[in-house]
Amino acid sequence: MRTVYVNGEYLPETEARISIFDRGFLMADGVYEVTSVLDGKLIDFDGHAVRLSRSLNELEMKNPISKEDLLEVHRELVRLNEIDEGLVYLQITRGSDGDRDFAFPAPETEPTIVLFTQNKPGLADSPAAKKGAKVISIEDIRWGRRDIKTVQLLYPSMGKMMAKKAGCDDAWMVEDGFVTEGTSNNAYIVKGNKIITRALSNEILHGITRAAVLRFAREAQMEVEERNFTIDEAKQADEAFTTSASAFVMPVVEIDGVALGDGTPGRVAPRLREIYLDEMRKAAV
Ligand code: PDD
Repeated sequence: MRTVYVNGEYLPETEARISIFDRGFLMADGVYEVTSVLDGKLIDFDGHAVRLSRSLNELEMKNPISKEDLLEVHRELVRLNEIDEGLVYLQITRGSDGDRDFAFPAPETEPTIVLFTQNKPGLADSPAAKKGAKVISIEDIRWGRRDIKTVQLLYPSMGKMMAKKAGCDDAWMVEDGFVTEGTSNNAYIVKGNKIITRALSNEILHGITRAAVLRFAREAQMEVEERNFTIDEAKQADEAFTTSASAFVMPVVEIDGVALGDGTPGRVAPRLREIYLDEMRKAAV
């Protein structure tokens, strides 16, 4: 049984308790982070902690924990649950003052903080990454502040199910003809030696993996273009891929039934995956 962390306590998962009035539960009034673990160490903890602060600030939510203590809780859960490869999930909600109300609760209301681990042996050496993912495109009907990592994940979950029903792995969301991002990852295409991905704005999540991968790509003298691309341009690309903390760099081999290149992962995405894993393992804490 897992040990989880709830509001200052380490508990067996079956003993963890949250109020039914918690605003995370009633209103999706909460933010989250997912940090991967390789060799029992945290990948890019700093990046996730910085984005967490930003998400909380944007929603005028209190941060109940310092960065140092947050790192300690992450490490302790990894240790207690003997995670070699996997994820640490963190969620902070606006808590509850014991009733349901659209207005935010009194400012002294304590936020709720929950962390748990997910054991994922083989996360780095993933068969799925060798095969590549097939994606469908769907309309992006999410709200306008996708830069805030909120727990409002119903539409992305529905998108994932639409993909599964179509025999695919994931969905890319499209707004005004342009790809925004994947259901739980940032989206890229490759044309020649150029990596193309949407620029940062309120329309997409500012991926922590994205920042690192683009830095490594530039260091490896690859050309990076941050601009909008259409789903049609994507279908004509040489390669495509996604990035996320839970899947690192994932090649995309098919979009809406159209195979990219020869329908295998290609050259750029697997290379970026390798560089990312090598460099991030070295910097893990
Ligand atoms: N998802 N875009 C969306 C909509 C996401 O949900 C995520 C992450 C990303 C990639 O961000 P990062 O590189 O910081 O993980 C982009 C996480 C992994 C999840 O919901 O499980």
